[in-house]
Amino acid sequence: MRDISKTSYDEITPPAVYFNRRSFLRTGVAAGTAIATASVYRWFNPSKMTDVASTQAVEFEATTEAEEELIARGLRVNEPSTSELNILNYNNFYEFTTQKEAVARAAKDFKTDGWQLVVDGMVNKPRSFTIDELHAISPPQERVYRMRCVEAWSMVIPWVGVPLAHLLEAVEPMANAKYVAFETLFDPVRMPGQKTAALEWPYIEGLRLDEAMHPLTFLATGLYGKTLPPQDGAPVRLVVPWKYGFKGIKSIVRLTLVADQPKTSWSRYAPREYGFYANVNPNVDHPRWSQATEQRIGESGRRRTLMFNGYEEQVADLYADLDLSKHF
Ligand code: MTE
Repeated sequence: MRDISKTSYDEITPPAVYFNRRSFLRTGVAAGTAIATASVYRWFNPSKMTDVASTQAVEFEATTEAEEELIARGLRVNEPSTSELNILNYNNFYEFTTQKEAVARAAKDFKTDGWQLVVDGMVNKPRSFTIDELHAISPPQERVYRMRCVEAWSMVIPWVGVPLAHLLEAVEPMANAKYVAFETLFDPVRMPGQKTAALEWPYIEGLRLDEAMHPLTFLATGLYGKTLPPQDGAPVRLVVPWKYGFKGIKSIVRLTLVADQPKTSWSRYAPREYGFYANVNPNVDHPRWSQATEQRIGESGRRRTLMFNGYEEQVADLYADLDLSKHF
């Protein structure tokens, strides 16, 4: 991220946030057996009740074999979720502001009606999807993932969404497609941060096709059982839990399958600081932040950072041919 340590902050007052009680979603074990549907969504509605209790961390303990299997497969971590209050008020979203605590307020009027997600490039069936069409090809399911930012803070987030693989299967990638390039909306009127030179716009990201097809790779359309709020990347954002948070591109309008490794926003901004892979790795420091430990938001004390953010068992095979000490 940018070095904003010298920025003098204006008074930052987190906006009042109000939540409905968390609705518990349970995913089925077999792929595609998710029970959550679009009806579980309730609009994030600031005029509704205040319910601070629901913002407390929720401990999760497996009580059934099915839940134990979800944990074993990495689909759900057995650690407390970060409070909703923190997830909604500590964000990176430079299209609105570079001040984490001010994103929610700056993005609150962002409208996503009629959103289209275009999938094109090296696919046999290019097309665009509304969010409802995305849910129609794959019913929304819950994933509770760790999220580790390269700035050495972390959260546990109960996402709702669909596996990216299901979307890619629907468009049929061609045999010579090797990467997926992602792009955020470019609209400086709706995203005023794009009038600044904080980054080159639009925000872009990329994955190798096998990373994109991995069962953990997820397109989130909600969190805490509700529609994704603007500050977290409404209406659809990428979640790749074993990579640093900046790979999780928000408010995506286009996915393009390509043959060559695509450019990414942060490696374009500072190539010596940010790589394409950006796999969480406690043994390779960022020039400005040690990656050995992390501050879990809402906790006191620091945690040891885990290789691949704790998803080593699920993803290490993808990188058998990479020298992990070099590919930041
Ligand atoms: N996507 C866009 N379009 N613009 C951004 O500024 N910030 C990234 C990522 N996705 C960013 C983005 C960074 S640096 C992080 S750490 C995560 O979003 C933060 O996600 P969160 O605010 O939901 O925690």
